[in-house]
Amino acid sequence: MRRAIARKRDGFALDPSQWRSIVSAYLAGGVDDAQMAALLMASLCRGLNEDETLALTDAFVASGETLRPPGARVVDKHSSGGVGDSTSLIVVPWVAACGVVVAKLSGRALGHTGGTLDKMEAVEGVRTELEPHEFFVCLERAGCAIAAQSARLVPADKRIYALRDRTATVPSLGLIAASIASKKIAGGAHAIVYDVKTGRGALLPRFDQARRLAETLVELSERFGRGATALVSDMDEPLGPSIGTGLEVCEARDFLRGRRRDPRLETLCFALAEAMLRVVSFPGDARAALRRALAGGAAAERFEAMLRAQGALPGALERLAPHAVAADAHATGAGFVHGIDAVSLGETARTAVDRAGPRAGVFLRKRIGDPVQAGEPLATVYGDAALAPAIGHAFDIQAREPAKRPVIYVEIGSRATVAGGSAARSTLETK
Ligand code: URA
Repeated sequence: MRRAIARKRDGFALDPSQWRSIVSAYLAGGVDDAQMAALLMASLCRGLNEDETLALTDAFVASGETLRPPGARVVDKHSSGGVGDSTSLIVVPWVAACGVVVAKLSGRALGHTGGTLDKMEAVEGVRTELEPHEFFVCLERAGCAIAAQSARLVPADKRIYALRDRTATVPSLGLIAASIASKKIAGGAHAIVYDVKTGRGALLPRFDQARRLAETLVELSERFGRGATALVSDMDEPLGPSIGTGLEVCEARDFLRGRRRDPRLETLCFALAEAMLRVVSFPGDARAALRRALAGGAAAERFEAMLRAQGALPGALERLAPHAVAADAHATGAGFVHGIDAVSLGETARTAVDRAGPRAGVFLRKRIGDPVQAGEPLATVYGDAALAPAIGHAFDIQAREPAKRPVIYVEIGSRATVAGGSAARSTLETK
């Protein structure tokens, strides 16, 4: 192990067989945390090449069980972590309403980014820690489910991820790619759509890094016989106006019922849902099917069916509403919103939820590009009025109007089918 650490430190690649034996020795106790942490730091500083990233992904997958969810065309979706990002709550039932099974394995909040499991559990009664057979029953009942990855799936990533968190070795492209792809491969879906965030609120803020991560995730998925598409989307400001667990469930509920649809959230949800249908070779016009499912109420019904299958108490979704304690942050001058600090708002919303429960959080009243007058409300904090000044500081207001920014910068995809056949890679870029 000492020699392997030194080789990596000096900029050499390790053989795939070395990665496999290091990962299994770490799980078996033959490699200790100090040695693994040193190897992770050397990997972060020197980078992992394609073969090493593939070998690490393979070793992670092989470290535990793999699932085979029921269905001929099963798709999963992953976000690299965002703020105000309720897309999973929206697109999972929406795509299921078009007849494609969506088996979504999710994570909990990480740093300033929200976790879909915490959002699901904001609905009274909902369980996300499901045994594989319970997960499959939910899929059969509702056509979709959002559950935690069981401890028996990819245990090597679970331990190594915790060590990376403690040793500041999370933001390594190769380590992130192996960590994310291994969990999706082990989850057993035939195809995966990745939403890789770029911008100040993202794990890898630089566009070139986010794009490379997106390409790597697609390549890794294809190497394991899965169809894959990755979008690189904006996280320079929160995606939707609601930030918090229960508030984001309300956002998703209202979106699916057509009560209120934030334009940036709608653009990304539409693109993700369409990519999820295309990547499993949906027969017919994917856009038209999605429009029908939304307009006819099938997507909203599927959302309720999914929550019921996972244990939601009767009326729980209707009862969900913002916390009664609310305070606004006001603009101190006039101008245009130039920036909204997603990291600080994500942290504030998390603090509010920790203090006051799932109805707490932040709601944005202004978005980047909006004109503001002095004294106008910029955002509302629910659950703890003392947090209002912190949300006011997250807004950057300047005299001139900022340039418009797209929501999606690039789409990278295979046109692989569920049978594993892969046609030419396609790339669509707006940056
Ligand atoms: N999410 C993961 O699952 N793994 C990482 O390494 C980073 C984000």
